[in-house]
Amino acid sequence: MNGIWVAPGRVNIIGEHTDYNGGYALPIALPHVVRCTAEATSDALVTVSSLQHPGETISEPIAGLADSTVTGWARYPLGVMYEYTRRGHAIPGVRMELDGTVPVGAGLSSSAAIECAAAVALRDLFAVPVTDADLIDIGRAAENSYVGAATGTLDQSASVLCTPGHALFLDFGKGEHAQVPFDLAAAGLALLVADTNTPHHHAGGGYADRRRECEEAAAALGVRSLREVPNLAAVERIADEAPRRRARHIVSENARVLTIVDMLRAGRDPREIGPILTEGHASLRDDFEISTPQLDAAVEAALGAGAHGARMVGGGFGGSIIALVDAERTEATVAAIETRFRAAEFAAPRTFVAIPSAGARRIA
Ligand code: GLA
Repeated sequence: MNGIWVAPGRVNIIGEHTDYNGGYALPIALPHVVRCTAEATSDALVTVSSLQHPGETISEPIAGLADSTVTGWARYPLGVMYEYTRRGHAIPGVRMELDGTVPVGAGLSSSAAIECAAAVALRDLFAVPVTDADLIDIGRAAENSYVGAATGTLDQSASVLCTPGHALFLDFGKGEHAQVPFDLAAAGLALLVADTNTPHHHAGGGYADRRRECEEAAAALGVRSLREVPNLAAVERIADEAPRRRARHIVSENARVLTIVDMLRAGRDPREIGPILTEGHASLRDDFEISTPQLDAAVEAALGAGAHGARMVGGGFGGSIIALVDAERTEATVAAIETRFRAAEFAAPRTFVAIPSAGARRIA
């Protein structure tokens, strides 16, 4: 018994750091995927290898995963396997080979793509009765408890639920989602992604600080999550500056998601969402304070080259930006970002155009 599964990375159109605050987001899946070739065994082992890490095949007894000291890329698929067994799903043994095209450390969810590729492979290979919501939670739990990064469920939700030609409207508070038509090409537009080539890590550091500050803000306002804060005026009641700023970002960001979803559903010209994306960048830079000189420079260069809107994406402290550009301005925008980076002596950015693609699935 064997097969091949893929799960994509994602780029978020709008709704950053809202997931663990019970808010809203609007990601698309990328054409870039992690591919998992999996084979059932009966050796009571989980054996993982990666074409990106030749010679590092790792084999662990499934029964001993709770105590595994494996670190690095292999910890993600092991964490997924551990979550299956912890939830009472017996798996007799498996061999998984990973191969990925999702840029690592670029804020494009390469880790969720690994988790979701492994999770769908194990589900199908062993006919485990788990729902999409379970798959998302298995990926999240692997990341939170096994790898130790206190992230939300944005990335896994996008990797499992996205469909081609659509953005995915996620309501984390209600646990609901909906597909929103997102055909930029039909409007003569392109969504340019520029990876600033400044990798980030979310296990600890700034990401965990932001999460804690959001919890402090919610506690100061006496609400369970910042989703419940009705407007920006309410945020100003928070006495401490850092939690107040963080809450300002979350409350304004949730409103931006809802506005953009309404505009797309109403069939408005997608160019009109551009300024809202740029506002989202200012909010992440000034209120959430997770941007970097490279991300700011890329956004400014894109806007200077005529982009309708641009913003940093993902968890922050490095990674990528998106720019909404007229399709025929794509090359000129790339050139403007490259020129700006060369002048500032930053590492060369990597760019591509993102097409809304399919979520996790079996391909063979
Ligand atoms: C990372 C996390 C997600 C989410 C984003 C920010 O990608 O994994 O859960 O919090 O940052 O929107």
